Amino acid sequence: MKGVILAGGLGTRLFPLTKITNKHLLPVYDRPMIYYPIETLVNAGVEDIMIVTGGRKSGDFLSLLGNGKDFGLKHLNYTYQEGEGGIAEALGLCAHWAAGEPVVVVLGDNLIERNIKSAVDQFRAQGKGGKILLKEVHDPERFGVATMEGERVARIVEKPREPESNLAVIGIYMYDARVFEIIKTLKPSDRGELEITDVNNWYIQDGSLTADVLEGWWTDAGTFQSLHHAAKLVAEGGANRMD
Ligand code: DAU
Repeated sequence: MKGVILAGGLGTRLFPLTKITNKHLLPVYDRPMIYYPIETLVNAGVEDIMIVTGGRKSGDFLSLLGNGKDFGLKHLNYTYQEGEGGIAEALGLCAHWAAGEPVVVVLGDNLIERNIKSAVDQFRAQGKGGKILLKEVHDPERFGVATMEGERVARIVEKPREPESNLAVIGIYMYDARVFEIIKTLKPSDRGELEITDVNNWYIQDGSLTADVLEGWWTDAGTFQSLHHAAKLVAEGGANRMD
């Protein structure tokens, strides 16, 4: 199982904080934002990691992270996304590197309280398809929103005006190697991006997407409000607990 962290995009929702740097280099309490998704993967036992950077100051990732020694890693991989063609486009850049292995993808601005090791282990055992993680939120219209039919996800709508549930799809996704072929078939959405929600809906149609509800808190950090909230959560209880 390989790990991918997506840290491209221009972070325009955080202007002017992101006018001269990459969003994922900004501080969240006592660490740069990019530290959190790396810890998430390492704590889940995923140590072969690709970081997709982009936009401004992408070279600073190398100065900050090097070969990942601070995380107990021997090596880190980097690639560069030009423009911001979407989460699925950024993931598509890893096709060659993934070389037929399944991947765990973490969005670079997503932070969690607990450990996803058991979900990753379950996905390994699943052997095929995809797995997503869900969390109840009070503002589902900001996210991809899942409609459940019993245990299974019936559909996901990206940022719906009238959400059918309050279950957000968080930015941690697990896919088999077919994901790279699926991405090649996607068309840009109205916001001009290749959407990860379209990838997840493909796996739903295929009947091979499983979903778990995440334990512990989850937040993104891509708006002023959520960046502030993330720092508060980390300061009060810490992120990426081992239990
Ligand atoms: O945080 C979870 C949400 O993330 C999901 O519920 C949504 O379904 C999903 O579309 C996404 O929504 P956002 O609109 O909040 O994503 P955003 O554009 O903020 O991008 C999130 C991260 O993905 C960002 O920190 C870096 C990476 N990214 C994004 C884009 C658009 C890239 O690496 N390249 C890109 O082109």
